[in-house]
Order: sequence, then structure tokens, then C-alpha cells
Amino acid sequence: MKRVLVIGATGYLGRHVVSELKRQGHWVRALSRHTDSFSNNPFAPDEVFTGEITQPETLHGLMDDVDYVFSSLGITRQRDKLGFWDVDYQGNKTVLEMAMAARIKKFVMISVVRPELAQHLDIVGAREAFVDKLRASGLEYTIVRATGFFSDMMEFLTMAKSGRVFLFGSGQHRMNPIDGGDLARVCVDAFDRQENEIEVGGPDVLSYNEIAELAFSALNLKPNIIHLPNWVTSAAIALLYPFNRKTYTIIKFFATLTQHDIVAPPVQGKHLIEAYQTAGRTL
Ligand SMILES: NC(=O)c1ccc[n+]([C@@H]2O[C@H](COP(=O)([O-])OP(=O)(O)OC[C@H]3O[C@@H](n4cnc5c(N)ncnc54)[C@H](OP(=O)(O)O)[C@@H]3O)[C@@H](O)[C@H]2O)c1
Repeated sequence: MKRVLVIGATGYLGRHVVSELKRQGHWVRALSRHTDSFSNNPFAPDEVFTGEITQPETLHGLMDDVDYVFSSLGITRQRDKLGFWDVDYQGNKTVLEMAMAARIKKFVMISVVRPELAQHLDIVGAREAFVDKLRASGLEYTIVRATGFFSDMMEFLTMAKSGRVFLFGSGQHRMNPIDGGDLARVCVDAFDRQENEIEVGGPDVLSYNEIAELAFSALNLKPNIIHLPNWVTSAAIALLYPFNRKTYTIIKFFATLTQHDIVAPPVQGKHLIEAYQTAGRTL
């Protein structure tokens, strides 16, 4: 049995990692900003440690009696005033320094496939600056680099439900998105693997046009896909910059990725159509 600290445990991937660790019989401490994050969860962590990653004075004892750390800490849709450098870089660095002091056995974290495509954007730049710190830490580590999560693919389903899906550019580039549960298994297995970096994606390689079509078909709707020319996308996103830099960065990141193929070695696992059909029943 491993004793594992999960940072980012209340997020999409973190919840799946907590469940997978518990399913495999490990002991889990989960960091959360809230006290009631895991009520009604059959695979709840053994201990919820309440703390705010940007306030180190709230983290005393976080690393006590744990041997392994998993981090999916980062900003996606959080509406607080914190930025990527506060959380993805400095927050993870705070945890890493505590892990080094506690001499844990291994640190596993999540990052993106093909970071060089968007390294100039804070959402990737801050995370990869932390990756460099982890590589230099002297700790055993694995960086799991994943393609798009199914949670992000739900944006296409929401657009389809409203009658049209907007795509950046031609929609012809491809990726193989991955389910959180399938990815969590890879992350947990990484504690026992030798590789410092693992790339992983889901079982289906799909163009963005095909992803949009799947979303319509799960809802039994006729496809209605609108392709936004790249100049329109760039101009619209640039308008956001002065008002909301965090949202600008996130949309620019997705717009950048959709202009390239993001395909990683597949795991056998859930198909996107299944996730769309399940989610479509309650949308
Ligand atoms: N989404 C993708 O397609 C994708 C692909 C590859 C890699 N990634 C990377 O994977 C990471 C995790 O993704 P996800 O979808 O699981 O994100 P998520 O659902 O937003 O989870 C992020 C986690 O970080 C925590 N967090 C954020 N700010 C915090 C703070 N100041 N103090 C303490 N905890 C804080 C969140 O806590 P709260 O619940 O309290 O906000 C949550 O537990 C992302 O940051 C991204 O870099 C994502």
C-alpha cells in the first residue's frame, strides 16, 4: 500500500486519480480548498487536508507520512484572481520543495503533449517552467503528458445542444482525447514505471470536424458546423486581452492546439461517443 498525497484532487483529473488510488487499495490524502469536497463519493480520500496552495502557512503537515505525490494542480476555469504563474508554477513549486524536504519516493504530475506549440502562453509556459524545476529536483519523477481531456470535449456537446458548433480554422487537424478515468490509471501506474515522461491519449484519433459530428449524433441532431477563419479568431481573441488575460490565454491555447495534430500513444479505454451519449442524456 502506498501513502499518496494528491494535489488538485478536487478537479476533473484529480478526482479520478483519488478514486483510482482508493480502488487499488492505497491510502490517500487530498488537498482541498474546501472542507466538504468529497461527500457522497464511494472512493473518497482517507484524509482531506484543507489548504490554499498560494498560502504556505496553511500547508503545515501536508507532507507528513506520505511517500508519493501526484499533482494535477492548475488553473482551468477557476474564477479567483490567481494566475498561471501563482498556481501552475509557484503552487507546484511550493509542493515540490516540501516533497524534497520530506524525501518522498516519487512525484508524478500532469502536463500537455507538444508543449513547444504553446510555450509562449502562460498556461503552458508556467507549467513547463515547473517541469524544469521537477527535472532538476533530484527526486524520482514522471511527467504524464496527455492530449485533451473528455471534460474539455464537453464544450463541443454544449455548443451542439445550442444548435451550432464553432471551430477554429478548417477543423481538419486531429487529436485523440482521453477519458479522466483512463488517464488516472496511467497516472497511478506511473508511480511504478521507470520513464521520466509518458505521452498518452485516448483510443480514437478524430479530426475536430469528427468530434463536432459525434456531439451532434449523440444528441440526434443534424450537424451544423461553422468554421471561423483564422484571422477572425485571432482578431476576436485579441480583443479579450485587455479585459481578461486569463480567458484570453485559455482560448488562445485551444485555438493554437486546433491548428496542429495532437496525437499521442493510445490507451484502450472509453470512446468519446460513449461519454457524449451519457452526458447528452442530462444536458
Ligand atoms: N484539460 C485538458 O485537456 C488538459 C490536457 C493536458 C494537461 N492538462 C493539465 O491538467 C491540469 C488539471 O486539469 P483538470 O481538468 O483536472 O483541471 P481542474 O478540474 O480545474 O482541476 C484543477 C485543480 O487544481 C486546484 N487548484 C487550482 N487553484 C488552486 C489553489 N489556488 N489552491 C489549491 N488548489 C487549487 C483546483 O481546486 P478547486 O477545485 O478548489 O478550484 C482543482 O483541484 C490542468 O491544469 C492542465 O494544465 C489539462
